[in-house]
Amino acid sequence: MWARLPRGRSRTATSSSFPTDDWLAAVLATPGLTGLRDLEAAREMLFADALRALPLIERYDGPLIDVGSGGGSPGLPIASALPDREVTLLDAERGKCDFLRRWAPPNAQVVWGRVEEQPLERWGVAMAKALAQPATAAEWCLPLVRVGGAAILWLGVSADVPRLGRVSAHLGGGIPELYDGLAVLPKVAPTPPRFPRRVGVAKKRPLA
Ligand SMILES: C[S@@+](CC[C@H](N)C(=O)[O-])C[C@H]1O[C@@H](n2cnc3c(N)ncnc32)[C@H](O)[C@@H]1O
Repeated sequence: MWARLPRGRSRTATSSSFPTDDWLAAVLATPGLTGLRDLEAAREMLFADALRALPLIERYDGPLIDVGSGGGSPGLPIASALPDREVTLLDAERGKCDFLRRWAPPNAQVVWGRVEEQPLERWGVAMAKALAQPATAAEWCLPLVRVGGAAILWLGVSADVPRLGRVSAHLGGGIPELYDGLAVLPKVAPTPPRFPRRVGVAKKRPLA
């Protein structure tokens, strides 16, 4: 069911000016940002795993938003690899936003707030890694994306993809495309005006 990731211009890009190991060491040293314990695992899970999405992101124009950025993955590696793209790093927790501000490159802005309260139909790509169950993450991300863009979700290989497709259809999203643990939900129509639902509802009562 999972396709291989396409090769893209930045597939092997690393961000030479971004102090990757310093950032990762700070993530590991800051309570509440990760359950990972060592730098090697952090390089793999927070940095390399984020950059896997570059060829998918580059298919879409416009600004990017990382929803629930936490310690900065995937948003910081992607912002540093794509310095010409405007990137928003969004998190609901103030302390995490303070941390993100210390590491954000010039093309990234940090927003402290809840996803349900952000502007709609604004971004070319909304991405989320370990934010919530896929149905909830899709409901949070797709309304932020303009038609022609996409939501990109990092999923486990056991994710219920048919269910994700049903959720996507409610939100103006198309059929999920699957690449090696990543789901691309294309935005094919404006999200209906009944979204976003009230804070907390997407988690409590998923659409499918
Ligand atoms: C498990 S962490 C994942 C962090 C990061 N994406 C990663 O993969 O390491 C989930 C993050 O989502 C944030 N979050 C949860 N619900 C949110 C909401 N409704 N709006 C914005 N951020 C939210 C949390 O504060 C937390 O930092």
